[in-house]
Amino acid sequence: MGLTNSFSCFPLSLKLHKTKADLTTSKQEDLSLTSSSHTFGISEKRVSTTITERVADGPSKLHRSPHQEEATSPYHDALVVTSRGRYELIKVATQETLESSDVLISTRAVGLNPIDWKSVDFGFCLPEFPWVTGREMSGVVERIGAGVTGLEVGDRVWTGTYYRKREAGCFQSRVVAPAHTVLPVPAGLSFESAACLGVPGLTAAMTLWHWLRVPMPSTEQQPTVPLQQRTTPHYILIWGGSTVTGQFAIQLAVLSGLTVITVTSTKTSKLAGDLGATHVVTRDGKTENQILDDIRRISGEELVMAMDIVGPTSASYAVSALSRTKPSTIAPLSFLPPGFQPPPNVSVLNIEMKQFILNEECRKYAVGLSRLIAQGLVRLPTYEVLPGGLLAIPQGLERLKRGDMAGKKLIVSL
Ligand SMILES: NC(=O)c1ccc[n+]([C@@H]2O[C@H](COP(=O)([O-])OP(=O)(O)OC[C@H]3O[C@@H](n4cnc5c(N)ncnc54)[C@H](OP(=O)(O)O)[C@@H]3O)[C@@H](O)[C@H]2O)c1
Repeated sequence: MGLTNSFSCFPLSLKLHKTKADLTTSKQEDLSLTSSSHTFGISEKRVSTTITERVADGPSKLHRSPHQEEATSPYHDALVVTSRGRYELIKVATQETLESSDVLISTRAVGLNPIDWKSVDFGFCLPEFPWVTGREMSGVVERIGAGVTGLEVGDRVWTGTYYRKREAGCFQSRVVAPAHTVLPVPAGLSFESAACLGVPGLTAAMTLWHWLRVPMPSTEQQPTVPLQQRTTPHYILIWGGSTVTGQFAIQLAVLSGLTVITVTSTKTSKLAGDLGATHVVTRDGKTENQILDDIRRISGEELVMAMDIVGPTSASYAVSALSRTKPSTIAPLSFLPPGFQPPPNVSVLNIEMKQFILNEECRKYAVGLSRLIAQGLVRLPTYEVLPGGLLAIPQGLERLKRGDMAGKKLIVSL
């Protein structure tokens, strides 16, 4: 994507306070976001007053709810990645003209996900700098494209986005998303809970219903095939059942009539059981081989479906837990080791959540997920709201990176 094109659709128009000291003296300086080869253009209109600051200085007392102030402003706040590992909070010009099928959403809450720090640390899914990351949010519809039906200004909505459009990055106070990816917030749900749906909720739903071809639960408030009618259990292994994604996956799998075997720490084993897992294998103090033995003692040769939600090592052991003879499938959400060769009876799925954006038919999974939540059949993860708005995101991502969230989701409210 060339600079000229990208900036015609997302002109950066800003001035930047560089430090807290600068804020107190009102000293301002033009922004020059530079990469090794380019100084990024500043559009002709300039913003004279902004509340931006370096993230390293921490959340500012100047932080205010942007949507209260932005309602009539042609600018909004965006946390941009300016180079690998470096963020700045800046003002950007909001897209003036929407594509016919797009929706402009005023952000109320954003969910933090491992992909957000991984892409910045490892330098992928960042087409250029500056870029806006963040893949799930909830908010209020502010404008709709000429061809959008079924949504109105003022609707409370949630969405999941992907990295190819800067305007779709969720770490900003206005987000543009295609209408087919925008869903009403289920009745009674807070913006914070709805901000968990676009990545972990939808990933669990699509992995099960789209890629693993598990039947979606019927519209009745019953599992697809009531468990008591089963003579033999239809197992699924969910390695990482207390991850936020795993919590959705356990519940959706049970609603579809599957018998869940999951792997968690002792700390979160009760949570996994409460969500419906029949067998919770705790991992504390065990080698992967010992965990594998525990799983195989439960399922023998009957396990034909597995989701790994932890990483390449556990994904390879999840493959070893599958039946050695029956056709079986693994959904490795965090990849298999490079060069891994599965046994001939095991199919490896490629879980690409961008399909939700690229394939309009995938909307049905988001609709199905919303419906189950509205029916009270799916419990939302507990969450912690980080104080400080968008500026709190880098510190929140550092916490996610440490990986000890004990089943809790991190949210930023605006
Ligand atoms: N392919 C995709 O599109 C896609 C989409 C969503 C997520 N993902 C990936 O899925 C993974 C999970 O994402 P998330 O947001 O759901 O994670 P998360 O909630 O941040 O996961 C943290 C939890 O992982 C558990 N955990 C850590 N090591 C474990 C292990 N060895 N075995 C079992 N559980 C372990 C910990 O719980 P306990 O220690 O208490 O067990 C911890 O609370 C990430 O790698 C993410 O990138 C991929």
